[in-house]
Amino acid sequence: TAGQTAEQKRRGAFSSRRVFILAAIGSAVGLGNIWRFPYVAYENGGGAFVVPYLVALLTAGIPFLLLDYAIGHRHRGSAPLSFARLRRGIEGLGWWQVGICAVIAVYYAAVIAWAVRYTFFSLDEAWGEDPEGFFFGEFLQAGDVEITTDVVAGVLVPLLVVWLAVLAIMALGVQRGIGATSVVFIPVLVLAFAALVVQALFLDGAGEGLDALFTPDWSALSSASVWAAAFGQIFFSLSIGFGIMITYASYVGRREDMIGSGLVVGFSNSGFELLAGIGVFAALGFMAQTGGVPVDEVASDGIGLAFIAFPTIISEAPAGALIGVLFFGSLVIAGITSLVSVLEVVISAVRDKLDTGRLTATLVVTVPVAVISLVLFSTTSGIYVLDVVDHFVNQYGILVVALVSMLVVAWVLRSLTDLSGHLNVHGRPRIGAGWRVLVSLVAPVGLALVLGFALKDDLE
Ligand code: PHE
Repeated sequence: TAGQTAEQKRRGAFSSRRVFILAAIGSAVGLGNIWRFPYVAYENGGGAFVVPYLVALLTAGIPFLLLDYAIGHRHRGSAPLSFARLRRGIEGLGWWQVGICAVIAVYYAAVIAWAVRYTFFSLDEAWGEDPEGFFFGEFLQAGDVEITTDVVAGVLVPLLVVWLAVLAIMALGVQRGIGATSVVFIPVLVLAFAALVVQALFLDGAGEGLDALFTPDWSALSSASVWAAAFGQIFFSLSIGFGIMITYASYVGRREDMIGSGLVVGFSNSGFELLAGIGVFAALGFMAQTGGVPVDEVASDGIGLAFIAFPTIISEAPAGALIGVLFFGSLVIAGITSLVSVLEVVISAVRDKLDTGRLTATLVVTVPVAVISLVLFSTTSGIYVLDVVDHFVNQYGILVVALVSMLVVAWVLRSLTDLSGHLNVHGRPRIGAGWRVLVSLVAPVGLALVLGFALKDDLE
């Protein structure tokens, strides 16, 4: 397009700030918003969780998001290249993030593929009377080592479809691939999910579900583990520390306002989280009522929520098929726009390093990751690997690299003044000493707290 610099032509770029914001929201709004946040809030004080959550968002989440933006936008490279330009010798931090992103992509794609399949299962309630037995047994055939035709049809074909779609998006590039996908699908996601929430609110028992979610337990505020959960959710949900936001920011025109963008992305992501909490707990309230049990017996997160609780709800609810299509469809869209963001971290790093074309880098990165994912999830041990890898990569890999990079940039390189100056040239509202204190002190303490509790939990 006209008016692009040579750099933008060579590396790719978002055509406008609006497209960047939608892509960044696409990355932030993922499976975590839908299947993680509601349960974390419920478990950690319910309505009272809003306090540590907002504190974490404002004192660490958005400030750290702006740090990632500043690094990528100022140094105009993938994570390794941006770190190398900050200081030669810390390029490795970027490669660490690249490695984590490659691992995440392997299993993120599998969950999306399951959701694709379950979108169709919703139409005829294929899980029958026993959604749990169906999911682990007939669907995944977990425990079997033989690949049966059922696994091929149920898991491998949708996974292959997901990978081909993602391959096409990545090959089309930053604007025509990632940007265009976000511009189309983020509004669709919001509409679909809003429709789901409205429908869930009309179910019997929805009120009890919302009571369970929102009734505040103020004593939670004095518990350090609740604060750790809030910081952990914020870091994960905003996709910070993965190299994603560094990469995306490097594709934004030099004169754009990155501070205002960060505020929009941060609040939109939390807004979607709140919406998801309402939808999920309204539906769980219905499930509790039809089962004649209290909400705490049906509250769940992750795979249990999506592939066991929701199928039960879909089978029981009026117009359940519609609920199913909206719920699993939302998971698919939210998942795809996050998956492309982690892959872009890897592709962008390879391009910057080897100076290859878009298509070459896309193939070199995506094909091996896709093959590993297909092999892993066709030998049904995939789901167990997922559990372990997810835990260690997400808990330690990400927290440690986030903490180290933050401390290095703030305390060793002392780059924060330069970076806030950079953001202030075109950004509003201006940031200054307050931001530097948050990034150099409050956010690292928050991260250390999360890390400490993760370690304590694992050792117990
Ligand atoms: N932010 C995403 C979510 O909330 C999670 C995610 C993190 C996705 C990192 C991709 C990479 O679900």
